[in-house]
Amino acid sequence: MCGIVGYVGAGSACTVVVDGLRRLEYRGYDSAGVAVVADDEVRVVKRAGKLTNLTKALAELPPTDPLCAATSGIGHTRWATHGAPTDRNAHPHASADGRVAVIHNGIIENFARLRDELEAAGVELASDTDSEVVAHLLAAELARTAVPAGGPGSAVPAGGPGTGAPSGAGIPAGLGRASAAGGVGGAEVAGPTSAEVAGPAGAVLVDDAPTGTGLVAAMRTVCARLTGAFTLLAVSVDEPGLVVGARRNSPLVVGVGSGEYFLASDVAAFIEHTRDAVELGQDQVVAITADGYQVTDFAGAPAPTHRYHVEWDASAAEKGGYDYFMLKEIAEQPKAVADTLRGRLTEAGEITLDEVRLSDQDLRDVDKIFIVACGTAYHAGLVAKYAIEHWTRIPCEVELASEFRYRDPVLDRSTLVVAISQSGETMDTIMALRHAKVQKARVLAISNTNGSTIPRESDAVLYTHAGPEVAVASTKAFLTQLVACYLVGLHLAQVRGIKYADEVGAVVAQLQAMPAKVDEVLATMEPVRELGRSLGAARSVLFIGRHVGYPVALEGALKLKELAYMHAEGFAAGELKHGPIALIDNGTPVICVLPSPRGRAVLHDKMISNIQEVRARGARVVAIAEEGDTAVAPHADHVVYVPRTPTLLAPLVTTVPLQVLAAEIAATRGHDVDQPRNLAKSVTVE
Ligand code: F6R
Repeated sequence: MCGIVGYVGAGSACTVVVDGLRRLEYRGYDSAGVAVVADDEVRVVKRAGKLTNLTKALAELPPTDPLCAATSGIGHTRWATHGAPTDRNAHPHASADGRVAVIHNGIIENFARLRDELEAAGVELASDTDSEVVAHLLAAELARTAVPAGGPGSAVPAGGPGTGAPSGAGIPAGLGRASAAGGVGGAEVAGPTSAEVAGPAGAVLVDDAPTGTGLVAAMRTVCARLTGAFTLLAVSVDEPGLVVGARRNSPLVVGVGSGEYFLASDVAAFIEHTRDAVELGQDQVVAITADGYQVTDFAGAPAPTHRYHVEWDASAAEKGGYDYFMLKEIAEQPKAVADTLRGRLTEAGEITLDEVRLSDQDLRDVDKIFIVACGTAYHAGLVAKYAIEHWTRIPCEVELASEFRYRDPVLDRSTLVVAISQSGETMDTIMALRHAKVQKARVLAISNTNGSTIPRESDAVLYTHAGPEVAVASTKAFLTQLVACYLVGLHLAQVRGIKYADEVGAVVAQLQAMPAKVDEVLATMEPVRELGRSLGAARSVLFIGRHVGYPVALEGALKLKELAYMHAEGFAAGELKHGPIALIDNGTPVICVLPSPRGRAVLHDKMISNIQEVRARGARVVAIAEEGDTAVAPHADHVVYVPRTPTLLAPLVTTVPLQVLAAEIAATRGHDVDQPRNLAKSVTVE
């Protein structure tokens, strides 16, 4: 939620930052803005609405505008939490003296108290956001710790060339020109001079002992006063060429270029410049200049970091000729499934999960499994329950991460909690896993994002290899989460050597065939698109399924809700008669996910009965059925056939037509398929 970019180098900061925001727009698209230090001013330009509104405003600037030439800056694309998505609530927020600008992702929970303090000190806040307080607190702290002109001191932490230390050292705080911010349009920030604000604000607002001078020290001091979740980036007029960031419970990575450094919520923002990244830990402050970066904890001590090379390149984050990212990502599913299996299946038909840092003994000790996740990842967990319980005979519960810790679940050392999260940053899931760890359970993360919070805080991680998923609606991440769950279930069965362990070899071979089967499904999607166009005017669409077809029905309904803004609901088909059948009216589309008539003949027969029940009440029946299923055709208005697949693995093929259908209906209704309203890809607030 909210995309953040910072840059210092030799290029145009505005261009680099806006390009980065374009790649992060999936994280929120309510408003966007940039701030740079140019000609002794902090210049802020921000606009409500999508990024194009900002780029239009920037395009109106004369090329000679100093803003265009600035070589350091920050930018933000917003998913609104506090305050409506308006120009004035857009980030960056400038301090009242116009000397500092800040962007923020997360929620500052104690903002009301901080705001009261600021107002009592005479500061007028210009927005309704929780974030703006940080700009004023930083300005106050900078004023409080300012070194008199010509006096001793250094504005940034010590360090030497080659150690990653910022080169802004020695720029005393308070020496820049105290000017109001300028720029284009009505949304820019202007304010009184530092002299007008520094006195009362500086004296009253920050009562901690000084930890130094300059923006880095001010950031540490201010962060210590904040509660909640935040990634913050700031620039100051007094230290051009320096961008300072901080993180707690929200993502922030450093991009390491040559003579240029980046800060971003996600490596996608700087992937076209560098694939070398540094993962930051919890409660850390980072400073970048054109010469390097430096990371400390909130107390100023050097902090450990982890540097890594990103496996994918910029082309993976481009649309590559597709109209929408979602279509591209649907098409990438065979590769994503194959990549997630790669190296984890042996020719002898075994599973090797060496990277899962849980010993075989740990896995043998497991007597209960909880899967915690949200949204689509939760649906992957629901499918996993069927497979894991069948293969391992270990009881497995699936819980919405947002509910988990509030109902006091029974956990102990022999409980395995599997936290599934594409982004690795979903706050509900983070809080669920933290609760599990406090109760001494072991936590295994399934995530698509290297170095993100959920894998870092878990005891073990199994990465999915879906590559970057840009469209807000999850597609390839879902399929790879299913694969990862199957691998975990099979691995547990193999290690424990119990009743169904002898199935493992057969399932391994079936899994290896899945990328080709998903490919086959994709090759037959034209009739589904046609069907989607014909369903554009439907008022409501229902999805039903049994066994693993039930979570697939839930997932199909979720895709349709989020993309087409239609009433859509998924039901266990057996539940219809207990209420939902009353929703069926003449012409109501009902999408029915059928099990294989070979594998689950009883369930198949029952689904056929359910189909007849809805059809008798006027439903327009769309069946998703296995090739060769001749029994369903007489009862359905449309049948979409998918390749023959063992029942437990069937969601890998039955989900795909539902993704295509939702995208097509959304496009038919004129919606933005990649960026549905009100949503953001990475939900970093509870
Ligand atoms: C729906 C969708 C969301 C996410 C959910 C969890 O298409 O994408 O429901 O699945 O927000 O996100 P992660 O997997 O990042 O924890």
